[in-house]
Amino acid sequence: MAALPLPIHRGQAPDHSLESKYEVLADFEPVVKELMEKHESKRELWFPSDILPADEGTVNEKELKELRDRARGIPDSVRVALALNIVTEEGLPHFHRLIAENLGSRNFWNRWNNLWTAEEDRHGNILRDYVRDTRLLNFRELEHIQFNYIRSGFNPQWTGDPYKIFVYTTCQEKATQISHVNTGKVAADQEPLLNFITQKVSQDEARHYAFYMNVFKEILERDPNQALVAAAAILPSIDMPGISVANFNEYADVVRRSGIYGPRDYKRIIEALFQSWKIEMLTSLNELGRKAQEKILAIPQRLEKVAEYVESRSTAKSFRFEVVFGRVLEMA
Ligand SMILES: [Fe+2]
Ligand SMILES: [Fe+2]
Repeated sequence: MAALPLPIHRGQAPDHSLESKYEVLADFEPVVKELMEKHESKRELWFPSDILPADEGTVNEKELKELRDRARGIPDSVRVALALNIVTEEGLPHFHRLIAENLGSRNFWNRWNNLWTAEEDRHGNILRDYVRDTRLLNFRELEHIQFNYIRSGFNPQWTGDPYKIFVYTTCQEKATQISHVNTGKVAADQEPLLNFITQKVSQDEARHYAFYMNVFKEILERDPNQALVAAAAILPSIDMPGISVANFNEYADVVRRSGIYGPRDYKRIIEALFQSWKIEMLTSLNELGRKAQEKILAIPQRLEKVAEYVESRSTAKSFRFEVVFGRVLEMA
């Protein structure tokens, strides 16, 4: 078993449960290697310029004009969702760092982190290229938001625990998959190319989801009690990437009202994970594990109440986002 360097958390006493978690991760590296190979064999490596030509001779000015004409009809609510999707994708430096910090940057997991980062990097690029080509948003405002988001850092609740990172990334990949696919769908009649792009991105997210979900399944098999404790800490509510963006709640509200992503989607994610991870069927747990299992199984009911509460309080509201040219957006 390869010794893994523990992340340094200055001033803290050595955490032996943390040490054993890294031993568990090292123990199933061969399985992860297989998962990575499976992931790469299923993946189609597309590049943004395959879809949005960027070179002299490949850009068709007539097609570009037609694209801009079609894009003019994209509703402002979809533009808001796209702005949020872009900014969260462009927060990739935060996530590369957090994965490296939590899983180590000089070991096997670094290979996954680099592969994943290279794949994710194209997501922000293609969405950004799209809104630039179509003139869909106030681009300088978008750049300003992105700058502030990266500058302000991102320190979610799962730092310092490698198990938590896999629970978080599993949920987050599925949430972004849903968000991208629905953003494209809402605008599909008006702008099929946007729908095509968001489908492409969401297919990548689906494969990332499968990877993280399967990694955590391995952890559950090997160390069920500690795995459940980690899951119980993360699953009740996840801090979405982008949460530190100014007016994040307003963006999230528009996204929910547009039917793109909301509390009910998160509830469905959790319920699907219960099936995949067979949470209910886990037996031979210790006291800690049983309590965590109980807490986890109660989450959907609580999420249902949250969704009902949010929906019951939701009345018509107007929004205004600088990134959508400061126009007033009325939503039911
Ligand atoms: Fe992504
Ligand atoms: Fe992803």
